[in-house]
Amino acid sequence: MAEKILKFPDNFLWGAATASYQIEGACTEDGKGESIWDQFSHIPGRIQGEDTGDVACDHYHRYREDVENMKTIVLKAYRFSVSWPRVIPEGKGKINEAGLGFYDCLVDELLKANIEPFITLYHWDLPQALQEKGGWKNNDTTGHFSDYAAILAHKLGDRVHHWITHNEPWVVSFLGHAFGTHAPGIMDFPTALQVCHHLLLSHGKALEVLKDIGDENTKVGITLNLSPAYPASEKEDDIKAAKIFDSFLNRWFLDPIFKGSYPADMWDYYQDKVPKILPEDMSIISRKIDFLGINYYTRSVVKANPKEKILKLTLLKPKGAEYTDMGWEIYPQGIYEILKRVQDNYCPNAIYITENGASFQDKLDKEGKTQDDRRISYLKEHFSFAHKAIEEDVRLKGYFVWSLMDNFEWIYGYSKRFGLIYVDYTTQKRFFKESAYWYKKVIENNGKRS
Ligand code: BGC
Repeated sequence: MAEKILKFPDNFLWGAATASYQIEGACTEDGKGESIWDQFSHIPGRIQGEDTGDVACDHYHRYREDVENMKTIVLKAYRFSVSWPRVIPEGKGKINEAGLGFYDCLVDELLKANIEPFITLYHWDLPQALQEKGGWKNNDTTGHFSDYAAILAHKLGDRVHHWITHNEPWVVSFLGHAFGTHAPGIMDFPTALQVCHHLLLSHGKALEVLKDIGDENTKVGITLNLSPAYPASEKEDDIKAAKIFDSFLNRWFLDPIFKGSYPADMWDYYQDKVPKILPEDMSIISRKIDFLGINYYTRSVVKANPKEKILKLTLLKPKGAEYTDMGWEIYPQGIYEILKRVQDNYCPNAIYITENGASFQDKLDKEGKTQDDRRISYLKEHFSFAHKAIEEDVRLKGYFVWSLMDNFEWIYGYSKRFGLIYVDYTTQKRFFKESAYWYKKVIENNGKRS
């Protein structure tokens, strides 16, 4: 049978994504302030191999070369985040013009290359000075965040039309404040829920500021990490556990943003741990977004476990499934399920996959090549399911592969490689992996072979 090309809609935005702390390095340069990740990564035992983001991919100095590489892959869009303490070292007050200037130059460089910038305001690197005043637990941080948004909008808003307020507030709330594995390393469930509420509130506040300063082309959204939850068995308690996990991970974020309220079942379930909410908060949180960003990596298989605290469940790894180097099950139809569900239940005007990709043990050979077939097939399968969703009227407008290049993978340091581009961290040389060449063809054809 002849191969069919799965064509994506005209103007579909094919892109790749990164985040400031994961790639920039230059951690104290040109007046940059300290972030919670600068501090956290230097605590012994926190990060695999005691790695830090001090240098990372040295993107701060090599951004021109990196944009050149994006051009080679013919990317149409690039999603990156701004480091808040690079722009405002103390989180509020004095602006660091050199830091702001860096993003100004980066945006110009992208536009010269015909690449649409998508800016994430917060990809986890809170200014340490704000953490010392309570961080996201303190409602004042929500106001400082919208002031920060205003500064970026004034400087870059004439050229940047797509803004993402937060990246994965679930991760910030729970990994950072309940499980303590991410910065700032707090382990207190009620704090995590309060933090979560303030993240959502700050999203709503920043959204208004960005829309006010911007023009009719300004589009604002938020990125959530979503994952369909499956019960591990037909047993009633596993089915219940999957529902709880779904509310914990997905609905706790989708419902307030789109419906203006937290899911009632989960609110009751959390009992005395629920956050403090001020009268205006829910209407601020549910201000209309222009698009939803979805990060999709895997599904969640959930088993009831009364021994576990609070949620009383554990996540299982189904036997016989295929896994990435992160230990995440490869489950491409999950992207379709999530897209359909979001479209059917929440009806956003537009959706972007703001992250999807996989880490594997890539090997650079003597010729500088990386034969990363597994990444290619991971992306191929996910693209197919995204295409199926579009055919069924899901308003998916673009797709960002995570990641443009190998980078600092949080608690795993440099041991995990997600990039389309291989980074040799000793020389800072970049090498296109086979997946980069493959992706280039997908973009050129605006689609892939079935
Ligand atoms: C984050 C990225 C991260 C990726 C892979 C997402 O949770 O937004 O920063 O590198 O997943 O773990």
